[in-house]
Formats: sequence, structure tokens, C-alpha cells
Amino acid sequence: MVAKLAVFGVLAPIVGACASVTVYYQVNQHHLASSTNSAALADYTGAAAYDPTVLNPPPTPNPPIPIRFELELRNGGTPGLSITQTGAFFGFSIEMSVVDQVLGRNSTVLQVPFLNLMANLAKRAGAVRIRVGGNTQEGAVLVDSTSSGRILEKDISGVSNPTQTPPLDYTRDLIYMMGNISHLVPVDWFLGIPFNDTEHFRLAVAEVGQQVLGRRLIGLQVGNEPDLYSRHGHRPSTYSPFDYFGEFGALVAAMSGEAHGANQHLLIGPNIATGDWTPEMVWNTGFVDSYSSNLAYLAVEHYPADNCFAQFGIGTPADPQELFASYLTHAAGRAIIEPYLNSTAFAQEKGKRLMMFETNTASCGGFPGISDSFGAALWALDYGMQMAHSNFSGALFHVGGQNVFYNPFTPPPTNQSTFRQWTIGPVYYSALVMAEALGPSNGARVLDLEANGGNEYTPAYGIYEGGNPVRILLFNYITDSSGANDYTAMISIAAGDRTPRQVKIKRLLASSVSQKGNFTWAGQTFGSNFGSDGRLEGTEVIETVTCEAQCLIKVPAPGAALVFLTDGALAEVESGPTTTFPTTALTRTMNTATIDPAVLETSNGHTGMNAKGRLGSTSKGSVSGSKPARGRLRTGYAAAVILSYLLATTLVAGLF
Ligand SMILES: *[C@@H]1O[C@H](CO)[C@@H](O)[C@H](O)[C@H]1NC(C)=O
Ligand SMILES: *[C@@H]1O[C@H](CO)[C@@H](O)[C@H](O)[C@H]1NC(C)=O
Ligand SMILES: *[C@@H]1O[C@H](CO)[C@@H](O)[C@H](O)[C@H]1NC(C)=O
Ligand SMILES: *[C@@H]1O[C@H](CO)[C@@H](O)[C@H](O)[C@H]1NC(C)=O
Ligand SMILES: *[C@@H]1O[C@H](CO)[C@@H](O)[C@H](O)[C@H]1NC(C)=O
Ligand SMILES: *[C@@H]1O[C@H](CO)[C@@H](O)[C@H](O)[C@H]1NC(C)=O
Ligand SMILES: *[C@@H]1O[C@H](CO)[C@@H](O)[C@H](O)[C@H]1NC(C)=O
Repeated sequence: MVAKLAVFGVLAPIVGACASVTVYYQVNQHHLASSTNSAALADYTGAAAYDPTVLNPPPTPNPPIPIRFELELRNGGTPGLSITQTGAFFGFSIEMSVVDQVLGRNSTVLQVPFLNLMANLAKRAGAVRIRVGGNTQEGAVLVDSTSSGRILEKDISGVSNPTQTPPLDYTRDLIYMMGNISHLVPVDWFLGIPFNDTEHFRLAVAEVGQQVLGRRLIGLQVGNEPDLYSRHGHRPSTYSPFDYFGEFGALVAAMSGEAHGANQHLLIGPNIATGDWTPEMVWNTGFVDSYSSNLAYLAVEHYPADNCFAQFGIGTPADPQELFASYLTHAAGRAIIEPYLNSTAFAQEKGKRLMMFETNTASCGGFPGISDSFGAALWALDYGMQMAHSNFSGALFHVGGQNVFYNPFTPPPTNQSTFRQWTIGPVYYSALVMAEALGPSNGARVLDLEANGGNEYTPAYGIYEGGNPVRILLFNYITDSSGANDYTAMISIAAGDRTPRQVKIKRLLASSVSQKGNFTWAGQTFGSNFGSDGRLEGTEVIETVTCEAQCLIKVPAPGAALVFLTDGALAEVESGPTTTFPTTALTRTMNTATIDPAVLETSNGHTGMNAKGRLGSTSKGSVSGSKPARGRLRTGYAAAVILSYLLATTLVAGLF
């Protein structure tokens, strides 16, 4: 999109019609001058994922918000509840070109922090959904082997197209790696069929995907953002929804035959960026009726803004400080979803599910100070819940490389991965909270409660099971350490005597919407940059509030609070199976080791390990007493490293 705009000088459509553009290798970051709080910002030349920009939180609202309001819910008969939602609603989209950094090196060397991050979610929600794809899927070629021996090879010198997407060769081992992950943690996968050449389809990804992943392969994307193909020079300028319709049909035809018996029913379309086409333009071709039996899901992709000027020097400059406030209200998520409300209704009418297949704070990598701030955690959680309320059936938040600001999680640069750990971004916290809010029942229904007279700074959602409210999620977007903007929600369940005697509360907290890292969920954290092995650290804090006619729930500015209305509503998100990892992961200097499953167990602090009465530690550094083999390796860092010390015999001699 970007380079094409440069070529033709078409600047207007950038904002609001954002394509995803993943930057595959380092470009200079041009920081915008308005960030006020950080020292030496202009001098920062490191990767975007660790950018130090801290913005100013927006001023407190004027007029001030009402700081006490009633929320009356009722058992049964509540109109407007969403369709039933899976706890795995909030998943991830991982750019194909970075899977060998994020998932693992290959099928036998998986990333332990990644496994832990997925296990945290699966424990709460029952499963995790991940899409491997993006622009890089379109030109990907399955090869028997690569010259480097790696599972992926990018030909950066062969970058020719406008989104700077390198041609990508990959081996079967990439898919074995995904399969091995699903043996350890219940991850379901989406893949994409290359669609750059619809005369000669390359179906190997579907065939091998089906063989290796079986029922864990839950969808195959057909085309990525086809509404931008012509803009990007991948199709003639006349390319229309009818052409896409025809090519989709050609693919269905090409998939007849034994190898694709199951795959023919796993297709996903139209995956438009909602840039040059609206969903209705595709629906009106008869797409859904014609291919109903082939369509596992309908999908769209969208980012609410773009940072292409800073990344590429093209388009309209955007000032993160000015934009920050626009992310910090309930209107933000609603505005993204509004163009799709007709489509979620249409999907229901047709018995289909609509997904937001790729999204995040902004395309072209997101914004420094916004995408990596606590504000983004509140934004993504509200946006995710709003999608659930609006009858989407899932949303996948995009994960790029080191050079984006919005990653839910970022592995350390590969040459540092033996002594640095992962950086967990705000959007991962959103995923964690949403997994708990929806729970593993697959029967949750969501309702935007229009709380506090519909105030934009204090939204709330009810989560219902069997027609009764079980959990309530409350937000406060304001930053005010004085306490003057903390609010109290006065919750009751009609009729009055149904109000619970007591409720349990977990809180998502930080000191300011601007804060980077060290956010806490129920008192536990993943720390700040390079701070995590994928496990929550610290002691879990669950508050109990005693109720009379009402339950008075205080929500600080800023923060979110998840209220569990029954003990069962809490127990179901705490009692999921504890995953253990019998094999795995290490980095380039070490061989694969067998790891003590007890140490790898994902624990949220008080269940998990204790429940099994096994020896292990949930806090970083506490598995100590082992001396680093080399000065650079410290016990405080990677789980893999710690574990290797425990299993000293498996260490390769001569690290580095
Ligand atoms: C994975 O990578 C490790 C380390 O480079 C190597 O020893 C191992 O053989 C590889 N496994 C596969 C299946 O290629
Ligand atoms: C499609 O991608 C493949 C692999 O990158 C490439 O060899 C081929 O030339 C492309 N075809 C078209 C029509 O762009
Ligand atoms: C992982 O993948 C390899 C193929 O490289 C396979 O031989 C092995 O059995 C798999 N391990 C698990 C646990 O599935
Ligand atoms: C909703 O979508 C249907 C199907 O594409 C279309 O016929 C209808 O005009 C749309 N309604 C609105 C208000 O856009
Ligand atoms: C979601 O679907 C339900 C069931 O069809 C409907 O009652 C509700 O109004 C829909 N919500 C939105 C926001 O469209
Ligand atoms: C890692 O690689 C980058 C880029 O090649 C280089 O600038 C940096 O010094 C390397 N760091 C280490 C610790 O080797
Ligand atoms: C995060 O918390 C740790 C431990 O309290 C502290 O050392 C570190 O400075 C904090 N980092 C940030 C970015 O606030």
C-alpha cells in the first residue's frame, strides 16, 4: 500500500483505510517530536519493540464523570445479549515470516516462554487460536529444504513489491513445529493458502497442514486483503469483488480430490482490509450462499489508524501524543466495529461466524507510546469485548517482529536470546483478562451495559451464562492519581434479593495509561522489557467484597476490574488443566533438553503447582543456587537457561 501510494501520489485514503504493513527488517524509526516525558528519546535507535517513548496521559475529563452509578442486571430475560462466545475469542495473528522467532526455531526447539504464554490463556479459556500468515503467506513456497537449514528463508534482496514483503521459502518442519506446540498446549491454527497466482495454486500448505495438524487446523485463509491487491500491483486495476468470487471458486475446484477432503470446508474469506471494498460489496456477489459449504468462517481485517509516515516517510504524519486520547474512550472500539454491524447480522442470518482476522492499534507497526502503553491494554480489552458484544466470533491481534510497537509479546533479538527474556506487551494482558471474562464454557454471552449513562470513560460489560450474569468487567480510562476520578459501581441483580452476598474481584492496574510494562493483573505481572519467561510473577490478589442490597465496586483511574458474581464463575477460570511440557526449547547455543515439567508448569500463583504438590518455582530467580556457566548468563533470565542449569548434564560445553 505504502510504496504504491508514493508512486502514484494518492495520499488521501491512508487514514481509515489501513492495510496491514509488516516491516520485515529494520528501517530507521523517525520519532515524532511531541513526546514529552522521555529523556534522550531522539537518540533512541534501537528496535521499536523496546522504544522508550512515554506520552502524557490525557487530561481528566471536563465535565467530570459521575463517580457513583448503579448497575442493575437481572437473571434471565435480558435482551440484546451476544451470540455464545468461546473463551478463545481473543487470539493472535503471527506474521509467517517471524514464526521461527516467536514459536520456536524448529519442530524440536520450541520457545518455552511462548508455550507458557499460550498455556496461561488455555488454562483460563480452554484453548488458544493462532493464525500463521499475513502478507508473507501470499508468496510463500513449501520447499524440501533451505540452504541455511532453517525452517524459513527470506530473500530480502528479492523484495520487490510495495509492502516490502520478501519471498518466503519454508519447510515442512514449520508445520511440524505447530503440531508439536499443539501436543503441549491446546492451540488451534489458521493457515493461509498463497493467492498470488490463481492459475497455479500452491496447495501444499493446506495438504501438509491437514496431515500434521488434523483437527487443530481450523481454517484456511483464501487471499489476504484482496481489496488492496490492485492498489499493491498484485492484480489489474479492474480487480473487483466479482473477480475475487471467481478466484475463490477456482480454488475450491482445485481442492477437489482426496488430499483436500477436509480442507474444502475450512476456507475463510473474504479477508478484506475494508480499504477499497466494503464487506457488503463482497456479500452482494452471492459469495456466502455460493460457497456456504466451503466457508468455515467469514473474516475481515482492520486497523483503526496507521503509522506509515514514521515508518516509511509516506502518507500523513501522525502525532502519537495527539492521537493518544482517541484510543482512551469507549468510542474507540465502537468506531472500528460500526462498519461491520450489518455484516455480523448478515453472518448470523447465513449461519456463519465473522472474525476480525488481523487487527491492532495501528498498521505500519503501531505508535510509540500508545501501542506499548497501559492505555493500549484497556483499549484492546474494550475493543475485544465490544467485538464479542457485537457478534463477531473472534479477533486476532497481530504480532510482528522487533520493529513494531504493538506486539502482544516479543522474543528477544535472536542474538540475545540466551541472556535476555521476552517482553510482554499490553495487548497480551488484554487477552488474559478477556480469557477470564469469557471463561472456558463456550456458552458466554456478552452485553455492553451502557454503564454510567453511556459515559465514554467508564464502560462496562456483563458476561452471561444460561441467561444469568456471571461476571462483570468494568473500565476506567482516566488517569488521576488523586483519587478524584476513581468511581464506584453499585451493582445489584434484580430482583433485589438475588444480589450475591459477596463477590470476588481481580484488577488490571498501572499507575497511568502512559505506563510501559509492569502492569498487574490480580497483583501479578510479566515485568517490563526483557522481563518475562511467560509466567505471571508475584502473589495473586483476589479481593472479596461483601454486598448488601448492592455490591459496591471501586474502579481506580486508570484500571479495569473483573467482578466474579459467583464462586463458580471464578472457579471455572482457575481450574483449567495445568499444562506440563515434556520436551523442548532452547536457543542457539544449546541443545534440546528435557525439562522438568514441574518447573515449566504454568501457574497463576496459587493453583497449578500447589494443586499438584510438585516442586517448582513460579518466581523468577528463585530456582537458584546454580552458578552461571558463563558470566553473561544469569539465573534471573530465560527459563531455558535456568532449566539448563538444573539439568547441567544436558548443557553443551562451551556456550557462545
Ligand atoms: C532444530 O534446531 C536445532 C538447533 O539448531 C538442531 O540441532 C535440530 O536438529 C533442529 N531440528 C530439526 C528437526 O531440524
Ligand atoms: C507467486 O509467488 C511465487 C513464489 O514467491 C513466485 O515464484 C511466482 O512468480 C508468483 N507468481 C505471480 C503470478 O506473481
Ligand atoms: C515434534 O516433531 C518431530 C518432527 O520433527 C516429531 O518427530 C516429534 O515426534 C514431534 N514431537 C512431539 C512431542 O510431537
Ligand atoms: C447489509 O448487508 C446486506 C447484504 O450485503 C445488504 O443487502 C444491505 O443493504 C446492507 N445494509 C446496510 C444498511 O448496509
Ligand atoms: C447480536 O446478536 C443477537 C442475537 O441475534 C442480537 O440479539 C443482538 O442484538 C446482536 N447484537 C448486536 C450489537 O448486533
Ligand atoms: C545483535 O545484532 C545486532 C544487529 O546485527 C547488533 O547490532 C548487536 O550488536 C548484536 N548484539 C549482540 C549482543 O551480539
Ligand atoms: C518494573 O518493576 C521493576 C521491579 O519493581 C523495576 O525495577 C523496574 O524499574 C520497573 N520498570 C519500569 C519500566 O517501570
